[in-house]
Amino acid sequence: MANGVVTASIVEQFKQLIGNDFVVADEESLHKYGKDETENLLYLPAVVVKPKTAAEISAILKICNENLLPVTPRGAGTGLTGGALPHLGGVLLSTERFNQILDIDERNLQVTTEPGVITEVLQNAVKEKGLFYPPDPASKGSCFIGGNISENSGGPKAVKYGVVKDYVLNLEVVLASGEIIWTGSNVLKNATGYNLTQLIVGSEGTLGIVTKIVLRLIPHPKFDLLMLAPFNSLEKASEAVSAIFRAGITPSAMELMEIDAITLASKMLDSSAVPLTDGLAAHLIIEVDGNNLDVLMNEMEAISEVLNSYEVGEIYFAEDAEQKNELWKIRRKANEASVMAGYTIEEDAVVPRAELPKLIRGVKEIAANNGFKVVCYGHAGDGNLHIRINHPTIKNSYNNSEMTAALMPLFELIASLGGTISGEHGVGLIQKPFLKTVFSETHLRLMRSIKKTFDPNNILNAGKIFDLESH
Ligand code: LAC
Ligand code: ZN
Repeated sequence: MANGVVTASIVEQFKQLIGNDFVVADEESLHKYGKDETENLLYLPAVVVKPKTAAEISAILKICNENLLPVTPRGAGTGLTGGALPHLGGVLLSTERFNQILDIDERNLQVTTEPGVITEVLQNAVKEKGLFYPPDPASKGSCFIGGNISENSGGPKAVKYGVVKDYVLNLEVVLASGEIIWTGSNVLKNATGYNLTQLIVGSEGTLGIVTKIVLRLIPHPKFDLLMLAPFNSLEKASEAVSAIFRAGITPSAMELMEIDAITLASKMLDSSAVPLTDGLAAHLIIEVDGNNLDVLMNEMEAISEVLNSYEVGEIYFAEDAEQKNELWKIRRKANEASVMAGYTIEEDAVVPRAELPKLIRGVKEIAANNGFKVVCYGHAGDGNLHIRINHPTIKNSYNNSEMTAALMPLFELIASLGGTISGEHGVGLIQKPFLKTVFSETHLRLMRSIKKTFDPNNILNAGKIFDLESH
């Protein structure tokens, strides 16, 4: 149990190891590193350390392990489930100085990077070589690739190209003991023993600290086309989603935005790119990409035909890169804009794609039964819905029994539809109460025993995914 105290002598040891400038405990820094983008939660760490090398992290973790100090790893702090919150105080370990792209291997279509590189910076760097790293979380302009690994992030492109796990070949990881391992090989196939690479992906900083990342890349598609399809019925919009795939088309993005989400984001950006006429209930944002423009035009036509059977309004086709960017900017702002409007609680439900209409109906019913407002948007093509909740009095779901009780039927519905709790935001602190709706006791026991094997003293992100007392 990591219940040690960060003493002055331990802080001194950290300073000796990594230099005075990179061990900070002033009020302002503690506040900055005490929150991420999850609800209104704030927990101050005792000290923030900013190492630069795996060897430095190894030395720090050895001290923490000996002294049973809680360690919270942190990337850019853009997480939405509290994964980077130092809720036990202790040591906050920031990866912000691991900010180098180490090698773009054009022969093998791979990139080796440190974890503190901003995802979009990495994407742009490989794009310059004609290469594509598709996972594109909405926060791609500020999140770190390391955080994306920890949460197994997705984003709009996941529907065609898959999520982070589909691109990770190999990871350098510092374990709680201070030992350093590579989890796999820089190869495209690997049937050699347990897949520790995939075990670390999505482990939310509970199993080790990732210090180097090898990703596979693909050639960048030459063209993309984007359409915005308006609907007067949210249900019809959500029914159209799975019909498009059944018609034989796999769009490179298939996003749903309920009208309030698009209105709030447009207002925040002061954009009139989306015509917001009376009676609108939702939009689908649909993109296709590839190397043959004629094929893409045909796909857009085929999609429009499907949409016509679901009472679509007048479809808007983005004409140039600027119009596309404008629409994507609006989509990416949905999260921040709804938070600003009071939708502080967020769920990240995912169901099999064709069950999306049932999920949306359930969400609306649960909101009405419990007296809160809800706005939905997200990666409809993946069956992944971000559900933002605006409750008149409750602003945090974490540690709030009334909100937990209100949301339990939602997760029971998700489980009954064959879905799960989180598609891309993780469990962290705030989703823990709902795990039992999707996992049996045996399943949870196996996961906890993996955690114990990697981190017997429970120093790494303790109390995330699992409650402390269950370790
Ligand atoms: C999005 C983030 C919240 O899709 O995942 O906007
Ligand atoms: Zn998302």
